[in-house]
Formats: sequence, structure tokens, C-alpha cells
Amino acid sequence: MKLSFIGTGYVGLVSATAFAEMGNDVICVDVDENKVQKLKNGSITIYEPGLETLFERNVREQRLQFTTSLEDAANNSDIIFLTLPTPPREDGSADLSYVMNVAFKLSSIITSYKVIVTKSTVPVGTADRIRRAMESQGLKSGIDFDVVSNPEFLREGAAVNDFMKPERVVIGTSSPRAAEMMKTLYEPFVRNGNPILIMDERSAELVKYASNGFLAVKISFINEIANLCSLVGADVDKVRTGMGKDSRIGSQFLYAGVGYGGSCFPKDVKALYSTSTEHGYDFSILEAVMNVNENQKVTMLNRILQHFDDNVEGVKLAAWGLAFKANTDDVREAPALWVIKELTQRGAIVSAFDPEAIGTTKAVLGDSITYGKNQYEILNGAEALLVFTEWNEFRNPDFAEMKNKLNEQTIFDGRNLYDPKKMSELGFDYFSIGRPHYAPEAVFQNNVHAIKKVA
Ligand SMILES: NC(=O)c1ccc[n+]([C@@H]2O[C@H](COP(=O)([O-])OP(=O)(O)OC[C@H]3O[C@@H](n4cnc5c(N)ncnc54)[C@H](O)[C@@H]3O)[C@@H](O)[C@H]2O)c1
Repeated sequence: MKLSFIGTGYVGLVSATAFAEMGNDVICVDVDENKVQKLKNGSITIYEPGLETLFERNVREQRLQFTTSLEDAANNSDIIFLTLPTPPREDGSADLSYVMNVAFKLSSIITSYKVIVTKSTVPVGTADRIRRAMESQGLKSGIDFDVVSNPEFLREGAAVNDFMKPERVVIGTSSPRAAEMMKTLYEPFVRNGNPILIMDERSAELVKYASNGFLAVKISFINEIANLCSLVGADVDKVRTGMGKDSRIGSQFLYAGVGYGGSCFPKDVKALYSTSTEHGYDFSILEAVMNVNENQKVTMLNRILQHFDDNVEGVKLAAWGLAFKANTDDVREAPALWVIKELTQRGAIVSAFDPEAIGTTKAVLGDSITYGKNQYEILNGAEALLVFTEWNEFRNPDFAEMKNKLNEQTIFDGRNLYDPKKMSELGFDYFSIGRPHYAPEAVFQNNVHAIKKVA
């Protein structure tokens, strides 16, 4: 089939590449000329495990092409996917201007029947809005089209695998013709028997928000349990293991930490809350979820500040991880960037390392911090290490080297990567989320400073 993707970011590039891999002819459109030029030259623009090999093969075999011309792409495709940004507006609602502007343009561009698919995460009623907008704009007479909602559930960091083997494909349309085309397109991805669920547009639009909203509830719930654990002397890791073994609950998304971030959860929870409010419904769980999530990063910041008697002026700190989660270079709404910014504004000197997200962080934090070439280099002379992202290389590090390099063996771990008891035996003053804190047991030869006692 001939496909086009309007918007060549994380979702656009991954899905376009995956469809090309299945033998479709795919054209990607973007307004960012530099991005299009880079992609045309065969250079990939995002980091996503496994994507580069597929991308290179499909570019080489000319099934994956790039352009800045919406007109060329649209009229050379049967199905037009909108993979455009839907960022939050000030009031939390989804900004649909990118999607609607392209829909308006398409109405005067298309010269034959097209299926227009919203793969962007869009509020309930958007398919209807697009349909009405296109009909009221300069649509040439006799030109037919259908609008389909096809929400995307891929996770950054595992996007290729998620797209290639979806647990479910959701297709929202009232058009049998469009439904058939979409089913044909997706069948190669669900040969394992996973379902293609055809439903009305509004339900499909809501599935995406309901799913992300529910996962955010799980994260905020376990973070609240972690906060309670700190007060009552329990260990959130043990509590979550005990809970997760109940198949009605499940163990995923039950990891306490510094809070969720990224380009989806924060904005989707806000947008779902905003949709509910617009319809006069007080979705109170979501309000609590958002507050808990904001508080998690504030709690980590306060714990660090408290340790330094509320004065981090001139204090050298090292940060492991900048991306909002492992296996991505995405730093949108990353808790790391928020905490680091708060610390540097108070005069801390921060040096950070992330395996993939240094470039994307530089675009936000610039030279307000320094960036290391590896995870150990930045520890030199630091008064504490802050852990923000659960990259594999941080899970089992060389603790001896860490001890040698750090000025103070203090670690604030926002991802609960290490065993608190073992850390204390190794002599670290180790703070994690919702787990016991043990005073460090050993003082190292190289440690010329007294190890701080815990309050
Ligand atoms: N990132 C994810 O993990 C994820 C997962 C599921 C769904 N989504 C949803 O998918 C949508 C896209 O997200 P993303 O992360 O890929 O965004 P992104 O910011 O990475 O990419 C969007 C792209 O659209 C381009 N663009 C903007 N205006 C354009 C226009 N008029 N014409 C052509 N291109 C244009 C931008 O230059 C950018 O390259 C959002 O609605 C998001 O909520 C994202």
C-alpha cells in the first residue's frame, strides 16, 4: 500500500519505518527542513533501539522516502497518517492546531479518495472535527475521504518491538471501506493472533487516554505507597513485589521513583482531565495523580537540599541519567532536568552523563551544566551522585571506582537501583525512594571527609 506520514518524530519515523519494512511504499513529510535533509541523506534523527538497521535497509530499498511537500506525499498515498505533535496548552488541554492545520491543507490538496488517520494522541471528537473541517474547506467536489482514529501505544525505548508486535491494534472508524484497508495494512503485525479492534472513532480516541491515565494512576499509587513506607518503616520494593504477584494487579508500572515524565504521560493525563472538566465531570483521581507526580520530584529535590543544609551554592554534584527513562534520548518533561535546573539555580555545579540524551539535554539546559564522556569521569570531586534514569549501565556499576572518585560517598537514587543494605555495607550514604536508609558502615581510606550522619 502507499502511505504517507505527516510529522517525522518518534511516532512518525518508527511507524513509517515499520510499515516500509512490511513492504509498503512510505513517504514521510516534515516541516523541519534540516530533519528531512538528514533523513534523505540516510542519517537517523532519533535514538531508538533496533530502528537504525530497519531505517537504513528501507531507505536503501527506496521504500522509505522523505519530503517537505505535503502535496506530493498526500497525492502519492492511499492512507495519510497524521503523526503530528499535540502538546499541552496552558490550561492542560491538547493543542490540536498542528493536526487541524494539516487537515485544512489536505482538504484542498487531495484529488482522490484518501483515508486520513490520526495516530497522534487526540481528544475525543477530533475525528469528527477533522471531518467537518475538511468538508467546510476547499474540498474538490466528488472527492471522498474517511477519517480514522488509530491511537499508537508504542513505548519509547522499546518502540520498534512494540510497533512490530502490538498487543492490540485499535482502529476507530464508521467506514467499512476504511476499516478494511486498515485491517489489511495491520494484518502482518498480528500474525501471532493479537487482536485488531475495530470500534467507533470516539471510543478509539478514548482508549489511548484511558490507558495512559490508568498507567499513571499505577505509578502515582506506588509512589504514594513509597512515601508511606518512609513514614512507617516499610520497604516499597517488598510491598510492590507482594502486590504485583496478584494477577489482578500485575507487577508492571509499580516502581516507585522520582515520577513519570516524557512526552506522553504528563500531557495525556492533563488532556484527559481537561476533557472531563470540559464535559462537566470532575475526574478527581487524575487530579491526585498529577499532584503526586509533581510532588515526587519536589521530594527528591528537598531531600538533596536538606542533606546540604539548604545551601548548595558551589556544591559539586554528579548526575547519572537525563532521559525521562532508559533506552531513549527523549528528555521532554524528564524529572532529571527539573531537579538539575532547581539545583543549578541555587548555585550547585552539576556535571551529568547519559548514554544517549546529552544532545537533547544540551538543547534545553545548554552550558548551565557540564557533560561527561562516561559515567565515572563526572564523579571526580563530587559531593554526591544523583541517579535519575534506570539505564542498564548504572545498575551494576564499579562501586570501588565510584568510591575513589566521589568526594563524599553520598547517593540520591531516584530509581531505586541498588540494595540499601549493601550500599551501607559498602560505605555509601544511600538515599532511595520508600526504602530504609542505613547509616554507612565503613569509612574509606580515600575519604578525607567525615561521612554525614543521617538525621
Ligand atoms: N513519543 C511517544 O512515545 C508517543 C507514543 C504514542 C503516541 N504519541 C503521540 O504521537 C504524536 C506525535 O508524537 P511524537 O513524540 O512523535 O512527536 P515529535 O515531536 O517527536 O514529532 C512530531 C514531528 O512533527 C513535525 N511537524 C510539526 N508540524 C508539522 C507539519 N505541519 N507538517 C509536517 N510535520 C510537522 C515536527 O517537526 C516533528 O518532527 C503526539 O500526539 C503524541 O502524543 C507519542
